[in-house]
This record gives sequence, C-alpha cells and structure tokens, in this order.
Amino acid sequence: MKIGFYNIQGGTGKTTLAANMAYYISDVVKTVFVDCDIYGGNSALFFNLESVPETINAYLNGKYSPGEIIHEYENLSVIVSDPTPAAFDTDLNVEKLVELLNHLDKKYDVVILDLPPNITEGNILFSNEELSCKMIVVGEDSIPGVGGTLKTLELLDVLGTPVIGTVINKDRKIVEYEDVIENLIAILPYDEEVEEQWIIGEPIVKKKSHFGKELSFLTEDLLDVYIEKDLATQRAIEIAKEFKSHIIGEEEEEKKDESL
Ligand SMILES: Nc1ncnc2c1ncn2[C@@H]1O[C@H](COP(=O)(O)OP(=O)(O)OP(=O)(O)O)[C@@H](O)[C@H]1O
Ligand SMILES: [Mg+2]
Repeated sequence: MKIGFYNIQGGTGKTTLAANMAYYISDVVKTVFVDCDIYGGNSALFFNLESVPETINAYLNGKYSPGEIIHEYENLSVIVSDPTPAAFDTDLNVEKLVELLNHLDKKYDVVILDLPPNITEGNILFSNEELSCKMIVVGEDSIPGVGGTLKTLELLDVLGTPVIGTVINKDRKIVEYEDVIENLIAILPYDEEVEEQWIIGEPIVKKKSHFGKELSFLTEDLLDVYIEKDLATQRAIEIAKEFKSHIIGEEEEEKKDESL
C-alpha cells in the first residue's frame, strides 16, 4: 500500500512526519520511504545520505535502475532526492516515476511518499488513477494553515484521491482544530527539539521527546487501524487468487482426464 504525505502549503512538516513515521513503521513491516519532491526535497539530510549519487533524480535521468537507488537505514529502505542545485537538471517524467512507485508497491508492504507542496504540472497527484495512493494531509497550526489544509482536502476530493486523515502539526494552541477539520487523526505539538535535531545531525526523532512520543502513538494507531487491516485484506485477496487458480488448474486437469 502507498501512503502519501501532502499539503499544498510548504513547510508544514510533511517530510518530518513521512520520514519519522516510515522509520517507526519499518520496525513492524517491510517499508520504503520515497522522496518525491524531485526539485526541492531534503530527505537526504534526514538519513545522512546527502552526498550519494544514487537518487530518484538520477533514476529519472536514466542513470540507475530502481534497485540501485535504494539505500538502507536500519530496517527502513530509503530513496532520496538530490538535495543540491543539480536537481534542476532532472527530467521529471511522471510515467517513469509512477512506474517506480508501482514497482516498489509489489516489493514492500508499505511505500511512504513524501510529496512536494503546491500543484505543479508534473505532480504525481494527477496520475492518481494509475498510482492509487492514499493521503495523510499534514497541516500546521496557524490561520493560513487552516486555509491551506481545507484547500488541500477540497483538491484531493475533486481529484478523487482517498484521504486517510488530517494531522495538525506544530500545535501551539492557536486554533481549535476539532471544530474546523472533520477528519482529524492527530494533533502533534510544536517541539523545539525537532529543530534542534538538525543541529546535532540526527533528524530522526527520538521516541522519548514530546513530539516523538505523540508521533509514535499516531504510528501505532495507523498500524493497528489501517495498515494491518489493509495488509490482511491484500493477503486474503492473494490467497483467494491462488485458491481460484488452483481450482481452475484442477478443473482443467479433470477436463483433460475426461477427454482422454
Ligand atoms: N512539530 C514540530 N515542531 C517544531 N518544528 C517542526 C515540527 N515539525 C516540523 N518542524 C520543522 O519545520 C521545518 C519544516 O519541516 P518539513 O521539512 O518536514 O516540512 P515540509 O512540509 O516537508 O516542507 P516542504 O513543503 O518544504 O517540503 C523543519 O525545520 C522541521 O524541523
Ligand atoms: Mg518536504
């Protein structure tokens, strides 16, 4: 299953949530994190991969195969984008990007997509028919943040993209979100430690920090309520398919026997 983190507004915490939740989820099921912010991504910094040449940009430029751009960060597989200005030389072929994501979906239980803000010509949201990705909308606690989140939810509705729920990040008790946003699944605190982790060079959040604790609760909920159910359904579908092909195989064998 693919889960995207999105908001048309920048800087709300999409990458922070996507990278950390992917890391937590990878303790339980086979998970890959993919930085789809081709021109503006910074996930390489989260995983200490800022100087690797094997990026999603290099894949899109035809330099590497999907298998060659996967890096391992403990249990988590990671695909980063080029964090340097050389990223602007990337040929954003959306079909090739969707092909990569669908390839990963077959190999992993969960594919986490860190999406860019805004709506650009090449935004993969518009290819959702072939992509079949479900979204977590990450909004931030501010008045413009409410506007951005409501606009994002409206956009996803118009595009027919399923939404798992909205997370409000950087909560400083400015807005009572429960009264405004219907599909709220979590409110995560503004926590200076999140910013400080950049300075110490460990952007993956410790579960014991205020933000980390709340984020790990959200991840557990997501695993219990959503991911495990979805994986169980997928396994049931696979068993049903195998069962069906077994029966059809047996029927064909019987037909062959009868015709002899
Ligand atoms: N809960 C939080 N408390 C404090 N700072 C936070 C929190 N969440 C994220 N940040 C900080 O906010 C900044 C933006 O976060 P991040 O890069 O995850 O946002 P983004 O939505 O991915 O941005 P972009 O739209 O540019 O991709 C970072 O410096 C990050 O450390
Ligand atoms: Mg980001």
